[in-house]
Amino acid sequence: MTPPLADRVRELLEWFLVNRRNLPWRYTRDPYRVWVSEVMLQQTRVETVLAFYGRFIEAYPTVDALAAAPRHEVLASWAGLGYYRRASMLHAAARQVVEVHAGRFPSEYDSIKRLPGIGEYTAAAVSSIAFDEPRAAMDGNAYRVLARLADDRRDIRGAAPRKALRNLAQRLMDATRPGERGDFSEALMELGATLCVPRVPRCDACPWVSSCAGHAAGTAPSLPVKAPRRPPRRTEIAVVVIQYDGRALMRQRPPDASIMPGFWELPNAAGLAILLRELGMPADARLYSAGTFSHAITDTLYTCHVYEATSSGDLPDGYRWVALAQAREIPITTISAKALAALSLAEPG
Ligand code: ADE
Repeated sequence: MTPPLADRVRELLEWFLVNRRNLPWRYTRDPYRVWVSEVMLQQTRVETVLAFYGRFIEAYPTVDALAAAPRHEVLASWAGLGYYRRASMLHAAARQVVEVHAGRFPSEYDSIKRLPGIGEYTAAAVSSIAFDEPRAAMDGNAYRVLARLADDRRDIRGAAPRKALRNLAQRLMDATRPGERGDFSEALMELGATLCVPRVPRCDACPWVSSCAGHAAGTAPSLPVKAPRRPPRRTEIAVVVIQYDGRALMRQRPPDASIMPGFWELPNAAGLAILLRELGMPADARLYSAGTFSHAITDTLYTCHVYEATSSGDLPDGYRWVALAQAREIPITTISAKALAALSLAEPG
C-alpha cells in the first residue's frame, strides 16, 4: 500500500462520512436492496429514484418476492423510471437467484456478474457495498473525478484512458481497509455527483483539492475531454419471425458474445438472402414484410427489416422453438423485442 494512495482514501472517506447524502438505500447492506438501488440509479437521477425506490421495496421486499411476482406487474411498478429493460432483467435475475442460488444472493463479484443484466458496474457496486469486496464501482461521476485527479486529458470515451482510470480507482480501493470498501465506492461517485460536477466543480470544498492535478493545472472544469462522436456507421439487417404452432424460432447468443451475451434473439443477418441460406430455407420462401425500424448500438445505426414466415417445423442448427408467451419471461435482445412488437402491426407484403 503506497502511503499517498492511503492518504487520498482517508481524505475521501472522512469527507464522505460528514457529507454523504441521506438516501434510503444507504441504511442497508442487504445485497438485494443495494442491487435494486444501483439498477435504478444507472440511467436515472437520484431525485427520480427517490420517488420509486421505497414503493418498489415495499412491493417486493425480498428477492423471493420479486421472483414470485408476475413480470407485467414488475414492469408496471417500474413505470416512470424508464428503460424497462432494466426491470425485465432485474426480474429475470431475481428468478435466477431463487432457482440457481436457492434464494440467497450470491456474495462474490464473479457470481454476481453472471446474473442476467448485471455488468461490471453493478457487480462491483453490490460486491463492495453489500459484501465489502474491494471492487471499485465506476459510474460516469467517478470517471470524471479521477480524470481530474490525474489530469488525464485523453478522450474519456477511449478504451485506454478508461482502463487507466479504472486501474487508478482499483489502486485506491486496494488501499482501503476492511469495512471501508462500500463507502469508498459510494464516496467516489458521491464526490462526482455533488462537488466534482461537470463544468463548475466546487474545488474549494473538495477533500482532494491539494492533490488534484487537474485543479493545479487549471484543467479541472474542462475535464474529462469528450471528443465529438463520429457519425454512426449504418448497417442494414434482416430479422425474421418464423412461427410454428404458437412458437417462434430463436437462439441464445453465446455466453462470451461481446454484445448481449446469453440473450435470446430471432434469426437475423446482414441480408435476407444470407439469412435464408443460414436457416436452410429456399431462396423463394414465402415471406411477409412486417415493417422497418431503426436501432442504435454504440456507434452503429441498424436499419432492421422485419419479415414474417411460417415454418414446417424443421429446426435449423442452434435454434429452439420458444413459446411466444414464454418470450416475455426470458432476456431478449432489443432488436428482437422490437421485431416481435412490430409484428402486431404487420401487413402482408
Ligand atoms: N451513483 C450510483 N450509485 C451511487 C451510490 N451508491 N452512491 C453515490 N452515487 C451513486
